[in-house]
Amino acid sequence: MRFQVKTGKPAKQRTDVAIVPVYEAGKLGIAARAIDSASGGLISAVTNSGDLQGGIGQTLLLTQTDELPFNRLLLVGCGPKDQFDSSAYRKALYAAFSALSGSNHAAAISYVSLERVAGKDAYRLARATAEIWHETAYRFTSMKSNPKVETSGLKTLGIAAGTRKAAVRARRGASHGDAIGAGQNLTRDLGNLPANICTPSYLAKCAHELAKNAPALTVQVLNEAKMQKLKMDALLSVTAGTEEPAKLIILNYRGAAAKKTHAALIGKGITFDSGGISLKPPGAMDEMKFDMGGAATVLGVMKAVTQLKLKINLVGLMPAAENLPSGNATKPGDIITSMSGQTIEVLNTDAEGRLVLCDALTYAQRFKPATMIDVATLTGACVIALGKHRTGLLSNSARLAKKLLDAGTAADDPAWQLPLDDEYKAQLKSNFADVANVGGRDAGTITAACFLSRFVDTDWAHLDIAGTAWRSGSKKGSTGRPVPLLVEFLLGQ
Ligand code: BES
Ligand code: MN
Ligand code: ZN
Repeated sequence: MRFQVKTGKPAKQRTDVAIVPVYEAGKLGIAARAIDSASGGLISAVTNSGDLQGGIGQTLLLTQTDELPFNRLLLVGCGPKDQFDSSAYRKALYAAFSALSGSNHAAAISYVSLERVAGKDAYRLARATAEIWHETAYRFTSMKSNPKVETSGLKTLGIAAGTRKAAVRARRGASHGDAIGAGQNLTRDLGNLPANICTPSYLAKCAHELAKNAPALTVQVLNEAKMQKLKMDALLSVTAGTEEPAKLIILNYRGAAAKKTHAALIGKGITFDSGGISLKPPGAMDEMKFDMGGAATVLGVMKAVTQLKLKINLVGLMPAAENLPSGNATKPGDIITSMSGQTIEVLNTDAEGRLVLCDALTYAQRFKPATMIDVATLTGACVIALGKHRTGLLSNSARLAKKLLDAGTAADDPAWQLPLDDEYKAQLKSNFADVANVGGRDAGTITAACFLSRFVDTDWAHLDIAGTAWRSGSKKGSTGRPVPLLVEFLLGQ
């Protein structure tokens, strides 16, 4: 898709489909007003007749556009005018682009970006347009034997800007949104692939493929023999029950001349989480193929960052393994020694994410990153606390926490901070080892973060994406979150 910022007059610009906003109560958006008067009331005739009430996400395609320089007019409902916010903007575009799927028009221009949206400038509106285009165009069909793909034939999507100055910002927004959307779609693909295909080795292959096309990116993959040498017994304890080899995948992006490593991103890569000997109940266990969402996020962010050629240095680490029960599996009560030297009593083999992450966090320190951010589908408790809307955020640094929260808000990929007080740490006390890997039912998301905090000595934040990484039910599938939040954060570095 080519995104093009357009500054011409809506009633004068040639294109195949003009996407034009209409509000409830017959109120017309900026482009709708201009086109309405140029066409002798074409749009108001439709809204006055009740054919389109302007409810959010309603669409109507008009073909009778004789006096106008486009073949089709796609009216899109934007809801009540005084409530047109960022979320309504996204919904309207989602509906408009979805309405174009299955049609064969080559070019369209969205005029929704001319509207006033609280808190969002031309940069944000163009960026959201590109991101939502990628989201609506996304199809996961690689596992269908005979995919019937209903995609749109659109080759260029114009994004309207009101002034030359706005156009400059919109151009930047479109290019950022294009990269973020592409990164998210990679994350989605990896999440949606089943665990018999998306194995730790598959993730490693994907990392190699990313690096092949990006000179600033290098890959290193540690196998189990190397992990043994490094004494990563926490990570190895998780993979003990499976035949599938574990991998620690490291992507090193050097976009800045300085030696400094701005950030390390550490993504949980459990390609299937059965729970191990502490076996999960069967209901919805299939969704544990999404338990590599953290690693998929790191790959998606790396894709976006390389496409944007950001002038930062970034390391991505993905501890990838399968968590299965077998005669070799780690048992409840087993005590292992992590790479850091701390001993861990594994009271529950289903709390495996923190075990692969702790060794990866220890290893990440050799890159001397200014900040470390881990991303993990870590606790069911986070879904109970925050549902599927906000990512859980916990941090040992108020400054870093604020930056990430602000990035989430700005990117429409919101997070919510939970506390990390010392009082919670007592729940992880073990009678036999330095620390237990679980802290009981209370505050499960916080105690998981407390566990991780023992393995970091830099500014660090933990993103629990158990609720936000995928959707369940009829819309089951990976969301590509929190790629927008993290790219937003990195753009500010
Ligand atoms: N991958 C799961 C967390 C999860 C569960 C994410 C459900 C999304 C939906 C994680 O490995 C896990 O099993 N966590 C346990 C921790 C508990 C044993 C302390 C959990 O949340 O039940
Ligand atoms: Mn688990
Ligand atoms: Zn898990």
